[in-house]
Amino acid sequence: MMRITVIAALILILFALPAPSYAQKPALTPPMGWNSWNHFACKVTAADVRAAADAIATNGMKQAGYIYVNIDDCWQGTRDDKGMIRPNDRFGDIKALADYVHSKGLKIGIYSSPGPKTCAGYEGSYGHEAQDAQQYAAWDIDYLKYDWCSAEKVYKPEQLQEVYTKMHDALQKTGRPIVFSLCEYGYGLVWRWGTAVGGNLWRTTEDISDGYNRMSVIGFQQNGLEKYAGPGHWNDPDMLEVGNGGMKHDEYITHMSLWCILAAPLLAGNDLSKMDPDSLAILTNKEVIGVDQDPQGIQGHRISEEGPLEVWAKPLADGAYAVGLFNRGESENPISLDLAELGIHGAAQVRDLWAHQDLGQFTGKFIAKVPKHGAVMAIVK
Ligand code: GLA
Repeated sequence: MMRITVIAALILILFALPAPSYAQKPALTPPMGWNSWNHFACKVTAADVRAAADAIATNGMKQAGYIYVNIDDCWQGTRDDKGMIRPNDRFGDIKALADYVHSKGLKIGIYSSPGPKTCAGYEGSYGHEAQDAQQYAAWDIDYLKYDWCSAEKVYKPEQLQEVYTKMHDALQKTGRPIVFSLCEYGYGLVWRWGTAVGGNLWRTTEDISDGYNRMSVIGFQQNGLEKYAGPGHWNDPDMLEVGNGGMKHDEYITHMSLWCILAAPLLAGNDLSKMDPDSLAILTNKEVIGVDQDPQGIQGHRISEEGPLEVWAKPLADGAYAVGLFNRGESENPISLDLAELGIHGAAQVRDLWAHQDLGQFTGKFIAKVPKHGAVMAIVK
């Protein structure tokens, strides 16, 4: 009897202990959310951030997995006598903003630079790293994008790792789990050491813009980086432009399909409070997002290429493949997937993730017509 009571007590104690640290590791799948930069740039205000949180909480994005509401550059004011950073007048009270975002069941992100100034010329964290990390934790911040910017004026390129490690250590010391987003445009082959300095994601390129050429150059050049991505540490080809108006429907389909095949972070970059139904449908297609968020966390890569016609594949946890047929050309074209490239020699089932349709069984090849600058995305098994 005594033995049973002791065992029961031990079991109770075990359940009462805090969850093991692996359960708290952030970004086990690519982070999803919204970031203010692509649409609002430096005009962003606390009201815009609240409006984004309101939209995510009510328009289906939260259910689709969008959780982080991230303030980018231009929130900073001056430092107080003790050197603590204060927000500017457009933001007022960051803790109140964080509480508001948290009250919607969402998380909040912020932005700084290791240099004296951010890219837009606001106060950076140089010489105040520990204080800033403490301030973010005191505000209950969940995510930090740390953008190289003017750090190039005070550090040498060979100090990149040391600089990012410094902020990572400062964040760790706060005891708060904070996703650490490295933004230094791929300098120093960051994918090779991003994980070692505590990065959960790292930008691999210079900035995206809202046009097919720039988006596709960035997206398609990710091929080859797949071995560096995995749960907790992701290549980041920059934030989404879906809904910002500079691309056509088929081009945004390419953007979303490619980012999901790449297991890229999905940070919407449009004005969520004024979104047309087509953009919302693209951003919230759960089958496409399921590919991005697959728990295995394998980044897809190009499996074949014929001029402007490319086939990409991403192995999924259940043994199936997500496949993207991309037409980078200037007219509609059939694109052919050779099933043997996936190691499939018998018949395969194909499901179209944008049409939400099972297309049936295919043997040898699967061929689809793909519009100019468009994509077909499918699950093949
Ligand atoms: C850099 C980054 C962008 C954005 C701006 C803000 O250009 O790459 O994503 O954060 O700075 O100034």
